[in-house]
Amino acid sequence: MSGPAAPGRTIALVGLSGVGKSATGRILAARLGRPLFDTDTLVIEAAGRSVAEIFSAHGEARFRELEAAALRSACDRGPCVIATGGGVVLRADNRALLRERAYIVWLDAPTPTLLARLRAHDEPRPLLAGDYAARLDQLRAERARLYENLADLRISTDQIAPEAICERIVSALAGPA
Ligand code: S3P
Repeated sequence: MSGPAAPGRTIALVGLSGVGKSATGRILAARLGRPLFDTDTLVIEAAGRSVAEIFSAHGEARFRELEAAALRSACDRGPCVIATGGGVVLRADNRALLRERAYIVWLDAPTPTLLARLRAHDEPRPLLAGDYAARLDQLRAERARLYENLADLRISTDQIAPEAICERIVSALAGPA
């Protein structure tokens, strides 16, 4: 982890599905008076299809291209809050763009917490098809280093409300008291 907190910078939330990126992003954007962009939502708007439909009709590679374009367009819209899809860190160009343009917050929580949150919203996640817990553990193993190397700040969101997560982010942005 590295990088100073910078008040005028875009803030990007990264982490696995179910960790609270969208809920935290909404509250953080309102609190900072900035627009919120959600890369999944931008992809859905651009493609006119759901994420699950893009995966099944065109495959993951096409989804990742649309996701990279969505990230670029969010980064180009000035200081904002970006709730990224969990796999945005997989591409080196996405990681470079995030490093250059954003203060990156990695939201993390244990798999049972992610499962409980995902069950509460029954939107299909194609990469979690089958055994959700096993898939989340696998994605965590594949991605933890990427999130860790990228993040300026890591927050465990286990048993913490999104408002409290935002508090921590805002404090980090303000720097040491
Ligand atoms: C994915 C996470 C999803 C969505 C897509 C792929 C991933 O977003 O982008 O299903 O690779 O982890 P959330 O992190 O918002 O669930």
